[in-house]
Order: sequence, then C-alpha cells, then structure tokens
Amino acid sequence: MDANPTAILHDLLKARGLSVAEDGATVAVGNPLHPRINTVVAATNGRYLTDYGYELGEQGDERATADRVAFLLAAPAAPIADGVSTSPFEVSMTLDHTTSPPSGVDPNTPSIARVYDYFLGGKDNFAADRELAEQVLQAAPNARTTARANRSFLIRATDAVVRAGVRQFVDLGTGVPTSPNVHEVAQRVTPDARVAYVDNDPIVLVHARALLSGVRSDVITIKGDLRDPKEILEHPDLSAHIDFRQPVAVLLVAVLHLLADEDDPDRLVESIRNLMAPGSYLILSHLWDDPGGVARAGADKYAHRKASALVVPRTTEQIQQFFDGFELIEPGLVHLDQWRPTEDMINAGADDRFVLCAVGRKP
Ligand SMILES: C[S@@+](CC[C@H](N)C(=O)[O-])C[C@H]1O[C@@H](n2cnc3c(N)ncnc32)[C@H](O)[C@@H]1O
Repeated sequence: MDANPTAILHDLLKARGLSVAEDGATVAVGNPLHPRINTVVAATNGRYLTDYGYELGEQGDERATADRVAFLLAAPAAPIADGVSTSPFEVSMTLDHTTSPPSGVDPNTPSIARVYDYFLGGKDNFAADRELAEQVLQAAPNARTTARANRSFLIRATDAVVRAGVRQFVDLGTGVPTSPNVHEVAQRVTPDARVAYVDNDPIVLVHARALLSGVRSDVITIKGDLRDPKEILEHPDLSAHIDFRQPVAVLLVAVLHLLADEDDPDRLVESIRNLMAPGSYLILSHLWDDPGGVARAGADKYAHRKASALVVPRTTEQIQQFFDGFELIEPGLVHLDQWRPTEDMINAGADDRFVLCAVGRKP
C-alpha cells in the first residue's frame, strides 16, 4: 500500500469534524494505553514529528502506509503544560510504524522492558519483542497474568508504604510507564511525595521523560544501570531529589532477576540497604525458581533469543537474603497473589506462582 499517510491522517481528522494543524503548530500524541502520557510533537510542512524523533506521516514518503496512523482520538487534547498549546486532536501510533527508532534502540534485539510492556498490554514493543514474548508464553503460559499480578503487587505495596508515612520513593528498573505509576499511587495519599525513576532502557527513558513533560519538580527520571550502583547512588540528581537521611522506599520490583550472579545482586542490594535511613522500606519482587522448572523454561527463551538481559530465577533463600537486616512486614515473603490481596483477588483464586515478593522495613 503506497497511500500518503498525511493525506489519510487529514481525511480521518476531517471525517471527525476536526481541523488539521497549521504548519508549525504543536500537537499532542497520546498513547491510549498510557493515557497520561502526552508527548509534544511539532507539525511542520505537513510532517508530524514526535519528540522521540519518530516521523508520523511524512508527505510523499513512499514507505509510509495507512497503518502507520495507528490510532486516532477525536477528543480535544488538554493543555499539557504552561506555555505549551495543543491543537484539537491527538494521535497515537505503534513503534512498528516509525521510520527511525530513538537513538540507542535496537528493534531487532528483544528488550526486557518492551517484552514486559507487551505482557501488560502496552504498545511500546517491536515484532522481535512480541515473538520472544509468545515463545515465553509457550514455556510459561502464566507469564502474562504474572506480569499483571506483579504490577498489582507494586501498586499495593507502594500504597501500604506511603500510608506508613514514607514520602520519598526510588523506583529502580521502572519499566515503560503504565498507569498508575509509583508517583500516582503515592500522591493519592501524600500529594507532595517525591519519586525518582531509574532505568537503563532508552524506550523507558523517553517515555518516562515525556510523562513528566518537563514541568514537575516532584518526580525525576535518571538513566542508570544497576550493574553500576555507585553511578546511580552518587548521581547528583538523585541526591538533590532524595534525602537518604530520611526514610525512603526503594523499589526493586521484577528487576533483580535481570542481573546475573556475576553482577553480584547481593552486593548491589547491600549497598542500597546501607544507604537507607531507619524506618525505610524495601519493596521487592523476584522470579522464583519454582520446583516445576516453569520459570527456568521461560528464562531459557530469553537467553536463546539473546534478549537485552538474561533472566535468572532464584530460590526462596536467595530472595530472602536481599532483605538481610530488614524486618519483613506482614505477610512476609510470599507469592504475588498472597501479598495483602484485595477482596477481588481472593475471589479470583490463585494461578500466579512464579514470583515471590515482600516489603522489608529497616529497624
Ligand atoms: C520487568 S520490568 C519491571 C518494571 C517495573 N519495576 C514493574 O515491576 O512493573 C524490568 C525493568 O528493569 C529494567 N532493567 C533491567 N536491567 C536493568 C539494569 N541493569 N539497570 C537498570 N534497569 C534495568 C528494564 O529496562 C525494565 O524496564
């Protein structure tokens, strides 16, 4: 199909009674799955450019097809931030429909963040990610429900910790933003809660930064690799934002199993625990080396496909070790569905038994 996508986009807009942005106007891209993300793009000379550098509908681009215009929202966009005007439409797209991925992104190497995004029902993934995800699902059919149960644990645990009085959060291995994010959960209870997001995946970083729209002072995003904890923990932006002399919650949710034994995750977590003030909390989940070997079978798929990281299930004892010196709050180290389940969860029954989780408090 060689239709001109700009013309298609314009026709779609007109069919909905919406006007087309003037050249030079600013428009908003909204991802329907992450409705809080509004990425500012520029429309110039019939081209729509996102701030990732993606092109959406370049005039006369023979490679472009109608399906590059993946989604259209008719609702007027709300103002994104002071001084940023928006035109009366929002457009979203899938990554497949881009001509140039952001720098540092290799669409052919499956990325852990993008595979997880696929499991959660997101659109920020490429064909290589989805292929690997489908292979993992064959080996571990509960992988998708486990990802959702893991995200649900993160939300319940963050809520419990903010209700216990913690006002600052460091989310290590953030993942592609998905609502509600840590700051949204925390700020429902404590509106001035501060959050630092840290990840090493370029797609996560562009989304996390877009989410913030550059106007918030309560949330920051830092590029950092857990294999170099010193770089993260001594990052000037982190020390300016988070006061480690006060209680802090550190989230290591579904990320430590992405570190090989050679990366020494024990030492990493020890260095973080040492930095935390008394009254701080560690929120952690980790792929469990289940007796049936299902987690290992799933992990093998990541290794076989040479994904962005290896996946390493660990035993109950190894996971417990990450909390050394901390007191586990009720109910201790358990499966995802057993950690303070909501009534709906109790009624739904259990089927996700490949991840252990806990929340520990520094005495
Ligand atoms: C499975 S996702 C979990 C996301 C989120 N914590 C959650 O539980 O919903 C793992 C995240 O950790 C990030 N990650 C993996 N290895 C990392 C490393 N060495 N340093 C920093 N982030 C890493 C990935 O990019 C991905 O975003």
